[in-house]
Amino acid sequence: MNSETIIINKQTWDEEAERFFGRNPLPEYGPLAPTEEDIMLFDHIQGKKVLDIGCGSGHSLLYMHNKGADELWGLDFSKTQIHTAEKVLSNCPSVQLFEAPMEANPGLPENYFDIAYSIYAIGWTTNLQQTIMNIHSYLKPGGAFIFSWEHPLYNRVKQVGTELLFQHSYHEEGFYDHEAWKRPAIMQQIKLSTYINTLIDNGFIIEKVIEEVRMSEADVEKHQNRWYSDKKAKSIPTTLIIKCRKSN
Ligand SMILES: C[S@@+](CC[C@H](N)C(=O)[O-])C[C@H]1O[C@@H](n2cnc3c(N)ncnc32)[C@H](O)[C@@H]1O
Repeated sequence: MNSETIIINKQTWDEEAERFFGRNPLPEYGPLAPTEEDIMLFDHIQGKKVLDIGCGSGHSLLYMHNKGADELWGLDFSKTQIHTAEKVLSNCPSVQLFEAPMEANPGLPENYFDIAYSIYAIGWTTNLQQTIMNIHSYLKPGGAFIFSWEHPLYNRVKQVGTELLFQHSYHEEGFYDHEAWKRPAIMQQIKLSTYINTLIDNGFIIEKVIEEVRMSEADVEKHQNRWYSDKKAKSIPTTLIIKCRKSN
């Protein structure tokens, strides 16, 4: 775990959290990405114990509650996000929230969860290997892990006028300070193959990899901002979604 980076990012999230209140939670997977209603990765939520990694304002956990999940557990390192999630989930029974980095186990039970998921949070990890190993340990054998994050090609390419230009090499991995953020926001550039191999090396079986873009008129209008644009998304996926399962 890279403690210095975690401290910097935590401060940024504590200050910026409000801007992300309820932004793209489940059933959304991310900007201009297909939704859970389109791709149905979660199959049975009713009666399940679910864990949200990087739960943010708690809206994805609220979705899980509305779909009948039995126990809602969430982890997020931002104090502001955890306070907000407590309010958002105040009418839900059986909620357990941990203010902690995803790189370490703050006391979560092992071999316990039917489903772990993470919506646009995993690329903030300072240690993918450790994070995936932790998530694997929390799941029951046969439990599912589903996550979305910005597609690793998306920030490699810049739109200049009508042209798309490669700004960075796809081969380069490691930490970078995201240019769209006004405060320091240190994320990890991780190739698709690294995600897949880290999951496999930690005992996950990959069930689905999704790179599709969804561009209804409403999506385009909702997600149009400095960073995500329909023009770029016509050629490059915005979001990577992976579903995998802990082997039995
Ligand atoms: C885009 S938000 C997630 C939104 C949320 N998953 C949802 O569905 O609404 C990313 C979250 O990751 C959290 N985060 C970033 N780095 C983290 C880390 N190393 N450990 C735990 N949480 C982290 C941030 O505090 C933020 O709440």
